[in-house]
Amino acid sequence: MEFSRRHVRAQVIKTVSVLVVVALLSLRGAESRRARIQQGGSLEYKAISCRSHSASLTDFGGVADGKTSNTKAFQAAIDKLSQYASDGGAQLYIPAGKWLTGSFSLTSHFTLYLHKDAVLLASQDMNEFPALKPLPSYGRGRDAAAGRYTSLIFGTNLTDVVVTGDNGTIDGQGAFWWQNFHRGKLKYTRPYLIELMFSDQVQISNLTLLNSPSWNVHPVYSSNILVQGITIIAPVKSPNTDGINPDSCTNVRIEDCYIVSGDDCIAVKSGWDEYGIAFGWPTKQLIIRRLTCISPYSAAIALGSEMSGGIQDVRAEDIVAIQTESAVRIKTAIGRGAYVKDIYVKRMSLHTMKWVFLMSGNYKAHPDNKYDPNALPVIQGINYRDVVAENVTVAGRLEGISGDPFTGICMSNVTIGMASKAKKMSWRCSDVAGITSGVTPPPCDLLADQGPKKVTTCDFPEDTLPIDMVEFKQCSYRMSYV
Ligand SMILES: *[C@@H]1O[C@H](CO)[C@@H](O)[C@H](O)[C@H]1NC(C)=O
Ligand SMILES: *[C@@H]1O[C@H](CO)[C@@H](O)[C@H](O)[C@H]1NC(C)=O
Ligand SMILES: *[C@@H]1O[C@H](CO)[C@@H](O)[C@H](O)[C@H]1NC(C)=O
Ligand SMILES: *[C@@H]1O[C@H](CO)[C@@H](O)[C@H](O)[C@H]1NC(C)=O
Ligand SMILES: *[C@@H]1O[C@H](CO)[C@@H](O)[C@H](O)[C@H]1NC(C)=O
Repeated sequence: MEFSRRHVRAQVIKTVSVLVVVALLSLRGAESRRARIQQGGSLEYKAISCRSHSASLTDFGGVADGKTSNTKAFQAAIDKLSQYASDGGAQLYIPAGKWLTGSFSLTSHFTLYLHKDAVLLASQDMNEFPALKPLPSYGRGRDAAAGRYTSLIFGTNLTDVVVTGDNGTIDGQGAFWWQNFHRGKLKYTRPYLIELMFSDQVQISNLTLLNSPSWNVHPVYSSNILVQGITIIAPVKSPNTDGINPDSCTNVRIEDCYIVSGDDCIAVKSGWDEYGIAFGWPTKQLIIRRLTCISPYSAAIALGSEMSGGIQDVRAEDIVAIQTESAVRIKTAIGRGAYVKDIYVKRMSLHTMKWVFLMSGNYKAHPDNKYDPNALPVIQGINYRDVVAENVTVAGRLEGISGDPFTGICMSNVTIGMASKAKKMSWRCSDVAGITSGVTPPPCDLLADQGPKKVTTCDFPEDTLPIDMVEFKQCSYRMSYV
């Protein structure tokens, strides 16, 4: 991990006062300057890097009336601040207020900071979201074959980017997009709230994301990603409002998130069928900790269904799911190829679930009919331990692929309390192999219990991943803008 340690706090404090004055002189008249400095306060937050320069969106003509589009103000501010990338970086401060905006793009060595009462409102003018080509690992858009509307907050080919706040809000105003989606009126795939492509060293923290048009947070083809302290809320029947989707990413840490959504709270992906196989970027070294999920029609954590670049070394712990369809689910199909392997899950507390364990080898959606019917996914080494569940309809529904069984499944210390209206058969298994130990109700024969003489504890790695060594710095600014 090589997060820059050059710009430490002392240095920042020394240079910021000078730079703020310089910035103000160039941006504002003397009158307002005096007023603003008198109102000045300080801002403290934790980030992977602190910045030497700062400005407020109001310096670039931003208007917080919830009606005026701020797309140009955002882009002008970020274009200007990008000039400081090699001089300690810059932060853009978003004060309290309602800021309507279309899509804008971030820059490197940059922090976007939202005040706790700042609300970014996504525009409902589709022209404010320019079209991008489909992702190369997907071959087509998911809503429409053509391209995709650029995400509200977008970045590509960046290094060292922070999007944070004191729990400030990004509101996607998704109802407009959901309606257009249901009516089949979209030319392109709906925008996400935050998407970073081909980027390294990214922090997304302490924000509330509401009503995304589609997925909420989508790091793709990226590495060294920290997502922390995010609250995500969307109606439980809203279409495809996945929470956080690490997609062809390495070294990702997602922790302390609370997600209520209409689709998977976290969906781990890596491309779709022949396009994902050809692109070949796996998602690996992923940590998920202290997730609370409510998603009545989807999973707390889904692996797939687009997994054609492979998914490996996922470590999930301390997962709470309430009224959620399933816990850690595997979704795949013939034609996906690649693998889902070395998956480790421990300490799940589950309340009112349709299925605790769910694996589906027949998740059929394909990008087109050019997929290779011989591209069989390898599903291997899936470990669950220390699980307590209550009010469950079916304990496990595990369906591998005929001629391509899912193997190395391990479950230990699992106590499932069945609902009074539970199905008679607690487990349904086909084309799977593995072992269980201390699992109630007793699992299917394909996952036979080891018995009291051979108690097993399923694996969970003890080594530390590089993303866990990243430390936050205490960033501190005297803002003249608060
Ligand atoms: C997020 O906020 C919490 C408290 O609300 C704080 O303890 C934590 O340090 C913050 N984390 C980041 C990365 O900003
Ligand atoms: C971003 O990086 C990718 C992968 O290295 C490269 O293919 C692409 O051309 C780059 N895009 C831009 C806009 O620089
Ligand atoms: C952030 O705001 C959301 C929405 O108002 C709230 O539910 C959540 O508890 C807040 N989180 C923190 C850490 O204050
Ligand atoms: C079994 O799991 C429960 C719940 O996570 C935990 O409290 C308990 O310590 C575990 N038992 C063993 C023997 O690990
Ligand atoms: C149990 O689950 C059912 C749905 O399957 C739900 O209607 C009921 O309220 C739940 N009971 C409790 C005690 O949570």
